[in-house]
Amino acid sequence: MKIAIITGASSGLGREMAKRIGKYYPDVEEIWLIARRRERLEKLRDVLPGVICRVMPLDITREEDQEQYAATLQKEWPEVRLLVNNAGYGVLGDFATADLQRQLGMVDLNIRALTAMTHLTLKFMGRGSRMINISSIASFVPNARMAVYSATKYYVRAFSRSLGLELKNRGITVTAVCPGPMTTEFEAVAGINHNSKVFEWLPRVPASKVADGALRHAAHGRPVYTPGAFYKFYRVISAFLPDTLLMRTAKA
Ligand SMILES: NC(=O)c1ccc[n+]([C@@H]2O[C@H](COP(=O)([O-])OP(=O)(O)OC[C@H]3O[C@@H](n4cnc5c(N)ncnc54)[C@H](OP(=O)(O)O)[C@@H]3O)[C@@H](O)[C@H]2O)c1
Repeated sequence: MKIAIITGASSGLGREMAKRIGKYYPDVEEIWLIARRRERLEKLRDVLPGVICRVMPLDITREEDQEQYAATLQKEWPEVRLLVNNAGYGVLGDFATADLQRQLGMVDLNIRALTAMTHLTLKFMGRGSRMINISSIASFVPNARMAVYSATKYYVRAFSRSLGLELKNRGITVTAVCPGPMTTEFEAVAGINHNSKVFEWLPRVPASKVADGALRHAAHGRPVYTPGAFYKFYRVISAFLPDTLLMRTAKA
């Protein structure tokens, strides 16, 4: 059985990607939808006609949930054509005063869980399989007031590039997706709503457009995808200019 797996499918970008998988990966027979909110996943399954969806309500930061995921893979032994490591969150605020558990939670989800899900899934992936890891423009320049978030997204981009090279001989590609702000639940979760001048003026790319672009770039095996001309330019200048020059503007 050929499947696609997507974490954080209950809202935002993950949900938009789940809706489009059939368009770019027509050989996928089943989509495994992962997030904590079961009812959201069930609703999504119900609006995806003609696609078999498996609802997997898991908190991927919990070891027992990771074990349950691994056991399901072991039992079904599917061919994973696409893995989308999308679940993630941010926190806006000065590190010293922001809640410690929420900061550590970002490391647990954006880094540890993504790494674990990748490791657990890789042996079910083969030649032509694709992996998409959601990073961010926050991985281009360190972002004060989102210090931990920005660092986690640096990890995702760097990890994706190294892994892509390691997996080349197996014919598996890894695409790091680096979106700018999208209008999703992310902003409310991060406490951004009207608390950041930068977020007020940064251009938004719709999550639906990012989802299309990410799936298309991954289908072509591209290593990095940055949606939107403004952010493509930002990525290029951040590679040439010293961090210190851009960090003031990049302060969230
Ligand atoms: N929106 C932006 O401005 C923006 C910009 C750049 C990058 N990104 C990145 O894009 C990705 C998707 O974010 P989004 O904008 O779509 O935000 P979102 O709407 O808040 O979606 C986050 C998803 O992650 C899931 N999730 C959270 N904790 C989880 C856990 N412990 N276990 C399993 N699933 C969990 C959530 O589902 P449950 O709550 O049901 O578990 C939800 O489906 C994230 O990696 C984010 O960092 C977002």
